[in-house]
Amino acid sequence: MKQIISDLFRQIHGRAPSVVTRAPGRIEFIGNHTDYNGGTVLGASIDRGVTVAVAPRTDGKRNFHSLFTGKTVTLAAAETLKQHGEASWVNYPLGVIAAMPAFGLSAPEGFDYVATSDLPTGAGLSSSAAIELASGLAFLGLTGRQADRETLVKIGKHAENNFVGVPCGILDQGVSGFGKANHLVFIDCRGPRFDTVPMPAGAHFWIFNTHTKHALVDGLYATRHRECMEAAKALGVSQLVEARPAQVEAAQGKISADAYSRAKHVVDEIARVGLAVKSLENGDLATVGGLLTASHRSSQNYFGNSTEELDFLVDKLTTTPRVYGARLTGGGFGGAVMALTDESFGEDQAKTVAAAYEAKYGARPDILHMLTGEGAQVL
Ligand code: GLA
Repeated sequence: MKQIISDLFRQIHGRAPSVVTRAPGRIEFIGNHTDYNGGTVLGASIDRGVTVAVAPRTDGKRNFHSLFTGKTVTLAAAETLKQHGEASWVNYPLGVIAAMPAFGLSAPEGFDYVATSDLPTGAGLSSSAAIELASGLAFLGLTGRQADRETLVKIGKHAENNFVGVPCGILDQGVSGFGKANHLVFIDCRGPRFDTVPMPAGAHFWIFNTHTKHALVDGLYATRHRECMEAAKALGVSQLVEARPAQVEAAQGKISADAYSRAKHVVDEIARVGLAVKSLENGDLATVGGLLTASHRSSQNYFGNSTEELDFLVDKLTTTPRVYGARLTGGGFGGAVMALTDESFGEDQAKTVAAAYEAKYGARPDILHMLTGEGAQVL
């Protein structure tokens, strides 16, 4: 990958890059909408991601080239205007530049930048966190500064919250930053505290990307965020992580129906994450699978972030042999379903599920057999 992007960089900018970095996308394993409620979450970094190459310039200009669009966006020195349309991907590296001073780091000045990705977009695999972390590492390289992994993760989240404008939690950036092949990343979002949990042998991830709308930036995510804050207030806690399941049940009928269902999803989901960690440590994939499917049912029944298409895939997958469990992955409202399977589940079974989906919805979901991969790194 380093060689390929360096050659392309040379073709575009006429010289070699000085730093090449890569950060992975992630699968949200379990812990849906728990992160910004102070809860816990498990995710996996995957073997696909974003690669960035940079070299300094002396005139202050910043040239952002995407191998995806084949176009360059040029910003004059110190220009930080938010980009729109096809150029809006530049908001991720720009947000990182804007965030660096808040962490005591100097922002890079002029540079040439090339980004490429082998992550499918709109599949809920968080290409945005991958580009933020790969850019953050590249800019640290340009400015000759060091930062620990936690700072890098927080810079990415800061960019997303403050520049891009999505009130996300720390899951995506945390998993992209702390990921490890054959492991899951556990995050206690209150610290935050990051840890890894080994994936039991024989566990496989399959992603079914429906290409239905993933409305993260379009407001539904922000609405759920607001509803969770309101639910916490109604329950008299500062964050939903502080509410106990019994407390939520006792409040049913006393707080609004929406506040009850959002709180129930988050509080039960945090409990499921704890059970999943224990079951993973015991190598009990059947129990883990049951928890994944329960998470999806809770999204469907309480959090309102599933869709008919995602429910259909989960129904099909959970009645297919060799599937431990299935759930929507990421923010929801369309996007992708993840299945945890044993090693003998293969392309044929996956195609049968995809064909049933196509027969009903007239479009074929992409099938991706995902492997875990390393976290963000300088190549
Ligand atoms: C998106 C956000 C994350 C998290 C998930 C839902 O991926 O970026 O911070 O809230 O949705 O769990």
